Amino acid sequence: MPRTPLVAANWKMHKTRAEAGSFLDEFLPGAADLVGVEVAICPPFTALATAIERCGGTAVTVAAQNVHDEPAGAFTGEVSAPMLVELGAWGAVVGHSERRRLFGETDAALARKVPAVLAAGLVPILCVGESEAERDGGRTEEVLERQLDADLAAVPDERLAEAVIAYEPIWAIGTGRTATVEQAAEAIAFARSAIARRDAGAAAATRILYGGSVKAANAGELMAAEGIDGALVGGASLQSEEFLAICEAGSR
Ligand code: PGA
Repeated sequence: MPRTPLVAANWKMHKTRAEAGSFLDEFLPGAADLVGVEVAICPPFTALATAIERCGGTAVTVAAQNVHDEPAGAFTGEVSAPMLVELGAWGAVVGHSERRRLFGETDAALARKVPAVLAAGLVPILCVGESEAERDGGRTEEVLERQLDADLAAVPDERLAEAVIAYEPIWAIGTGRTATVEQAAEAIAFARSAIARRDAGAAAATRILYGGSVKAANAGELMAAEGIDGALVGGASLQSEEFLAICEAGSR
């Protein structure tokens, strides 16, 4: 089954509503010419409505950077999937390494979040990846397998392929130290095989992105590699021309 590449902009804690609006004013006219690639913008919560409004009537979708697993409740500071659906969001990033590392997001929480996101009708972009010490210790595959098994455990087999996976080696995030095409392709092939142990059809249909210091200069060779179905882009997604060039590189 052909997998349409996806390029997603993870803006992290960058851009006010005004800045998000200016970015999209610059980006959307060029994005209208993209073929064979899907594009998602993941702004901070406060700029979601602005982004969704600007992207209305275009093929560009908008996703949150985090979500709670309960639909409502006494969870101060949290936002639920049905709330994102009401706004018109398309998806939500879950399990980003910054959330795992800085905000204590656990595989146990992700095991609840991923099915909750799907149940609400949103696409989860589930991030997995090893630290530098884990890679140096030869434990990359063990980490990926543990994260994927745990985080997808409660997703029914028939819905597995609706999730997007982003392989993001922690040592490559924001460091300028991109994984080589071989490292990225190898880890992604392993991640696909880990999903295939549950359901081979779902594994063949699941989009698995690479993330970690992707920029216009390396996006083409990464996304041309077998099995790499797009990119999750942090720093280089903040500038509209650079991000458009990355989206163009992902177009098939
Ligand atoms: P980076 O971030 O592109 O700035 O390395 C990627 C990410 O954290 O998703």
